[in-house]
Amino acid sequence: MFLVFLAAVVSHTYALSASQSSKHLPRTQQPVGNILILDHLNINHEKGRHDWLKAFYFDFLNCAVDPRKQENIVQGRKTLWANIGANQFHLPEGKPDAQVLNGVITLSYPNLSTVLHRYDKVKHLLQETKFAVRVEDDESLSVDDPWGNVFRIVQGDNAEMDSRGLQPGSKEKDGLALRDLTIHTPPGCSMQGIARFYEEIMGAPILQCSSQSVVVSVGPFQTLTFAPNPTDDSVVLHVDLRDEQQELASGYSSFPSNYGPHISIYLADFSESYRKADALKLVYVNPRFKRQAYTLDQAIDDCMFRILDIVDPYQPEAGPILSLEHEVRSVVKRNGDKYRSCPFDEIPDPCQGALS
Ligand SMILES: *[C@@H]1O[C@H](CO)[C@@H](O)[C@H](O)[C@H]1NC(C)=O
Repeated sequence: MFLVFLAAVVSHTYALSASQSSKHLPRTQQPVGNILILDHLNINHEKGRHDWLKAFYFDFLNCAVDPRKQENIVQGRKTLWANIGANQFHLPEGKPDAQVLNGVITLSYPNLSTVLHRYDKVKHLLQETKFAVRVEDDESLSVDDPWGNVFRIVQGDNAEMDSRGLQPGSKEKDGLALRDLTIHTPPGCSMQGIARFYEEIMGAPILQCSSQSVVVSVGPFQTLTFAPNPTDDSVVLHVDLRDEQQELASGYSSFPSNYGPHISIYLADFSESYRKADALKLVYVNPRFKRQAYTLDQAIDDCMFRILDIVDPYQPEAGPILSLEHEVRSVVKRNGDKYRSCPFDEIPDPCQGALS
């Protein structure tokens, strides 16, 4: 059973503006359900371009360098993690190209002038790239990263800084949060189906659902939005599937590797979502990653499982509405301890005893 806790009463009017910049309004806590946090976005950078990666994420966005990937900074290659508030970017090396998300990454900062000032400091480092910053009419910033990923930088207040815990180093930086991740949808796709996927399988409150978009609550101040790309409605693919040789123990299905971007979320009732996903045959194993959970038992041991396809639980036979890899994590380990990568200081109440 999913419970919506932290149920601050939120009016529908607020819900409609959840993904918009609300410069002059203090942010109000929204209902949080079974998705406790959208922890990170994993997206490849261009192999051999740590210089651009660092200039963008650390010098311009002022994300904290995650000490767990410090050795790769020293080496000048491989994965870096960039932290903002309780959230992270996982930035592995591409093979060799960078990935470009078909969507928008919204980050909040207390003072946009400070961010804009940093633009002048880094622009010479990124001259040969797609890096660009524009001030929008509502004073938010539209930013293209060196490879064309689209960011929006909006004004936030300190209430948005996650009180449950932060990623290492974030406290000393000005960035507040990954406020929203917008994923662009294929033309004519079922928004109701997407909403039902998050509501029924993930247990997340839907803040808004129309024929145009869906807004899912993934934290007290954080949203995951699905909407069409306003400037380009050509085919939208968030996966890059490749068949690779794998050695399989008997009885396990084989899956293609996905080299597309993925999102990582922490759930309170992890087992319940696993069972619902499994009943609809949605559990996915990405052979590209070391941890491979084919069963609930293995998922509990690994504190994670994956889902690739978003389907309407009322119409599973209609097939995937869209594909986007979800790394679904458990806050607690089998022995009741907190999973080491989880940014929370304490295990939130709804997670206690969730692995049964
Ligand atoms: C924002 O930053 C700018 C420049 O860094 C500074 O001049 C201004 O006073 C700051 N505004 C606030 C409200 O702190």
